Amino acid sequence: MRLILLGPPGAGKGTQAQRIVEKYGIPQLSTGDMLRAAVQAGTEVGKRAKAVMDAGKLVSDDIVIAIVSERIDQPDCENGFILDGFPRTLVQADATEAMLKGKGLELSKVVEIQVDDKILADRVSGRYTCANCGAGYHDTNVKPKVEGVCDRCGSTHFKRRPDDNRETVVTRLGAYYKETSPLIGYYYAKGKLQSVDGMADIDHLTGEIEGILSKL
Ligand code: AP5
Repeated sequence: MRLILLGPPGAGKGTQAQRIVEKYGIPQLSTGDMLRAAVQAGTEVGKRAKAVMDAGKLVSDDIVIAIVSERIDQPDCENGFILDGFPRTLVQADATEAMLKGKGLELSKVVEIQVDDKILADRVSGRYTCANCGAGYHDTNVKPKVEGVCDRCGSTHFKRRPDDNRETVVTRLGAYYKETSPLIGYYYAKGKLQSVDGMADIDHLTGEIEGILSKL
């Protein structure tokens, strides 16, 4: 199964991707996570990406295409993968087609998560993750069972992303509408698009996505 999760910042792509990973055992390829890892490691790519990401703008197509192309050649992608946050421009979408075709592979489905703009800033600014295992939480929507302790690994250390603030969300949303939303029509025309209601609660949305995936 080769899947793309499409949606604005805070739509729930990462949250749903983690659940698909658990159920189907295929890896989540998040370009945001890969770029943040490069920033953390201080690589050349990370140095070029940091200021762009902090400002909420898009990193150049050539950088992200190269990262994804290399990643899908890894053995754990043999049985499929979930692209989370990629492709994000028409150039990236065309590159994805070419990449898959070159490997004799086909895209299974593009799931677009639709969410009202007005709640995205709350979702993004309230988000935090476990610094140890990466489990995702939210100040009001998704709290750990015991306050200050990660449900998954028991760590008491959490972190927030530097771009998760209300000001940067406006820029990120602008980039989504300008650069990424044209992909909705692009994949609709290819008969690959399925849209889901991202305003529903997390479990309900997971059920809806699993219903789509079960038919593949
Ligand atoms: P990236 O890391 O991809 O961020 P994003 O697309 O802005 O998406 P988010 O991670 O913010 O949101 P999400 O949809 O995953 O939401 P989540 O599930 O966490 O990209 C960051 C930056 O990297 C970009 O701005 C750009 O600079 C660069 N970049 C990355 N890819 C690139 C590319 N391909 N090309 C160029 N540049 C690129 O949920 C958010 C919160 O809401 C969580 O707290 C969660 O618990 C909660 N929540 C989730 N679902 C629900 C629900 N149904 N109900 C209530 N709460 C919910």
